[in-house]
Amino acid sequence: MYKIAVIPGDGTGPEVTREALKVLNVAADKFGFQYEQIEFDFGGERYLRTGETLPDGAIDELRGFNAILLGAIGHPDVAPGILEKGILLKARFELDQYVNLRPVRLYPGVETPLKNKGPKDIDYCVIRENTGDQYSGVGGVSLKGTPHEVAVQSAVYNRFQVDRCLRYAFEYARKYGKKAQGKGDHNTLALVGKTNVLTYVYDLWDRAFHEMGDMEFPDIRREYYHVDATCMWMVKNPEWFDVLVTGNMFGDIITDLGAITQGGMGLAAGGNINPEGVSMFEPIGGSTPKYTGKGVINPLAAICAAAMMLETLGEQEAATSVETAVKFVTANQLKSMDAGRMGYSTSEVGDLVAQYVNDH
Ligand code: IPM
Ligand code: MN
Repeated sequence: MYKIAVIPGDGTGPEVTREALKVLNVAADKFGFQYEQIEFDFGGERYLRTGETLPDGAIDELRGFNAILLGAIGHPDVAPGILEKGILLKARFELDQYVNLRPVRLYPGVETPLKNKGPKDIDYCVIRENTGDQYSGVGGVSLKGTPHEVAVQSAVYNRFQVDRCLRYAFEYARKYGKKAQGKGDHNTLALVGKTNVLTYVYDLWDRAFHEMGDMEFPDIRREYYHVDATCMWMVKNPEWFDVLVTGNMFGDIITDLGAITQGGMGLAAGGNINPEGVSMFEPIGGSTPKYTGKGVINPLAAICAAAMMLETLGEQEAATSVETAVKFVTANQLKSMDAGRMGYSTSEVGDLVAQYVNDH
């Protein structure tokens, strides 16, 4: 019996989460697992009502769950940063979800803005470190509002953070790399950095990467790309990539680029992983206030997030079934992946996936 915490959150978060839960429910019946779901109302509305983001007690409560499914955080009436730092980043940090796993996979039937590229070409995974870098909160401001204002926000990493993320990435490449999946001759892990300018932080990453590779993962092919060049190759030659690993800030940026190449935010899912603790799964698209309540937003990213959750819980068969269902729906049923142009409503798309899981 799994205990799943559900945080539907803001904007379109609740609409897409409902569809993910619909599919989860059908998958549980079909594959014979049970779960209890408990909903939490953290988000913009609650903050505007009570001034509370994610209270410390809630973190302790969340520790008692097997996984967390999150919709979206972000509210047009709340200043930027408050909900993001107070809820999303707080959960990631306090629950020590030190890996942000973001597959970049083009599903059949989905249009990509990349010319002449298809599902075979766009099929890789970014492992974004999820606790350090400019997200660490180290920095400050002085003389604010004066012509001499000083602002510092530092990229901070220690060896421990770097090593644990790299180890996860190497192990991931061994298990899910292109060779492991029968799609290539090597399992390859590429470090994405900026060793030519960030000569402290990415030098640390680079040395840790090669030391660990030499000592523990000689079977994994290693590559290195500067982050700026990575952006070029993600557009021009995405087929080069297998598993990428990078720091928090670069990972944030390149995964939005990745998401648009896989057909947009309606399809991109991510997992905030603590391999020894509680992980949190989310569509990475945000709360999209302008579509809220219209029933037009694409729930497939939320459904894919639920599939990642199933995989992490060890329900591999159910996870594969949901992913197969999503591929069937993109290939054969949706007219477009974009909000309002799918040819179906949000809840009908959930029905299509649920139906397929049920029938196959
Ligand atoms: C993401 C988002 C968050 C991040 C924001 C909302 C804090 O952009 O999950 O990629 O920067 O990590
Ligand atoms: Mn982001």
